[in-house]
Amino acid sequence: MRRDKPSRTAYKVALNVVTLGAKPEMDRFLPPGIVEATEKLLVASGAAAARTVRWSRSRRMVSLYEAFDWMLPGQFEAFAHRKSFCERQVRDGIGAGATQILVLGAGYDTMGWRLAPEFSGVNFYEIDHPATARLKAKGIDALGRWDNLLLIAEDLGKQKLSAVLKANASWDQSAGTVIVAEGLLIYLAPEAVRDLFCQCAVVSGVGSRIAFSYIPTGVDGRPDVGRWTGLMLWLQKVAGEPWTWSIRPEDLGVFLEETGWTIDLEEVGTTRKHGVEFYAVASK
Ligand SMILES: C[S@@+](CC[C@H](N)C(=O)[O-])C[C@H]1O[C@@H](n2cnc3c(N)ncnc32)[C@H](O)[C@@H]1O
Repeated sequence: MRRDKPSRTAYKVALNVVTLGAKPEMDRFLPPGIVEATEKLLVASGAAAARTVRWSRSRRMVSLYEAFDWMLPGQFEAFAHRKSFCERQVRDGIGAGATQILVLGAGYDTMGWRLAPEFSGVNFYEIDHPATARLKAKGIDALGRWDNLLLIAEDLGKQKLSAVLKANASWDQSAGTVIVAEGLLIYLAPEAVRDLFCQCAVVSGVGSRIAFSYIPTGVDGRPDVGRWTGLMLWLQKVAGEPWTWSIRPEDLGVFLEETGWTIDLEEVGTTRKHGVEFYAVASK
């Protein structure tokens, strides 16, 4: 991705969430409070102008997103399902005893900010590329910081996760942890993804889980998002955030075993696909 510029894809995901808030009945899927928190964060951080956010929550914008669904069917609503899936993993993990939450490539996601006051005995960590993380930190400062929410600005393509976390005295590698990598892996090089999973296994305690989304590999070896794959790959490249990693769902179990994780088969399967992405969870 472009090193000096805040992530465009993180911005688009956040605006998509705002627009989903204007779509009738989406509150059945969207985590409570996510739309309002995302609107506030986008404006307070300066990532989006107030009028852009207002426009994003209009019925016209809903129609526009729906019109674009012919290209990537189901992709507009997919973000509500993805957010809901990840938040459920975090809540279930905390219920099962996790005391640390780590969100990788957090973008303008508000889960940490919303859940930190609800779970004051749990430490929330977020890591994102410096250009995006700094902008978000400005927004979180304006919204109100929580002592148990830490924002870390690092490039995971360059820095080892274990080294980044070791630099934080409060990180406990023996603690039950829920790690979330939502919409991130596709932007990392294949060797960086493998290494990241290995390191996630090293920095977290027994009973930890990792929830993530991924785009499946097609027969030609490229990430497969349907008939517009070529165009999407080109658009992402031009935007400076090329898609570089994907995996075939049938290869995921072995990949996870090799990196220190066991796939949760309950969560695997076509019902876990919304839009262009699959969702998965593994534990150790
Ligand atoms: C599609 S956005 C998803 C944001 C967030 N997870 C969400 O779903 O709302 C991808 C995020 O990954 C981050 N990212 C991409 N490459 C990264 C890297 N090498 N190190 C850290 N973050 C990275 C981007 O800055 C961006 O915020």
